[in-house]
Amino acid sequence: MRRPIVAGNWKMHGSRTTASELLAGIKEGVDSVRNVGVVICPPYVYLDQVASLLKGTPISIGAQNLCQVTGHGAYTGEISGQMLRDLGCQHVIVGHSERRNIYGESDALVAEKSIAAHHADLTPIICVGELLEEREQGDTEKVVGRQLDALLSTAEGIEALRHSIVAYEPVWAIGTGKTATPEQAQDVHAFIRGRLAQIDQVLAEKVCILYGGSVKPGNAVELFGMKDIDGGLIGGASLNTDDFLAICRAAE
Ligand code: 13P
Repeated sequence: MRRPIVAGNWKMHGSRTTASELLAGIKEGVDSVRNVGVVICPPYVYLDQVASLLKGTPISIGAQNLCQVTGHGAYTGEISGQMLRDLGCQHVIVGHSERRNIYGESDALVAEKSIAAHHADLTPIICVGELLEEREQGDTEKVVGRQLDALLSTAEGIEALRHSIVAYEPVWAIGTGKTATPEQAQDVHAFIRGRLAQIDQVLAEKVCILYGGSVKPGNAVELFGMKDIDGGLIGGASLNTDDFLAICRAAE
């Protein structure tokens, strides 16, 4: 049995003040959420604050990105997996479509980052997903398959995947209010699990596959009710205490 997970990706939102207000509400409500792993991924600069506010709660902390290089070095502006561990992170989002599409992160770089995260003892939340044109051309499986293969093609990548969470985020559904239907999402989740099963059946059964893209309290129950959807990666709705808690409860 896979334990459902709901992760909030704050993206580049918030301030010290809004972070503590939001977390106060989430801390208060999270006790009523049963058997769901809850993860909060604030911007780097608030990780320390969030870690101290969440001390003693069951909520885990994640970063939104990391450097592909392990350890220390002359990499101006970069943050290593070890530094994230040092701050109390257990998770890190890797290969979000905004990193892939705005900052040009390639499949190979995303694979390197996932491996670096695993080496730093972090659980990568590896994002995959197709653009609208790719879906319209019928290329969804080709694109998602290619993104996964960057990891599945090496022993280190497979090892990292064994300790990862995968998030399917169709790019056309992110921040657009246009959610994939539960059936559309389930089809891709089943495809992802099938692709993993070609390499390792146990890995495929074990890996949590989250859906992300305009998840709201009103559609979460239906989405999370699908066989291969093990929770969600939440953007906009994770910035609202009531919405985020309602989505967490929908994953129970
Ligand atoms: P929205 O929930 O705002 O569509 O964002 C999804 C997302 O990109 C989470 O990583």
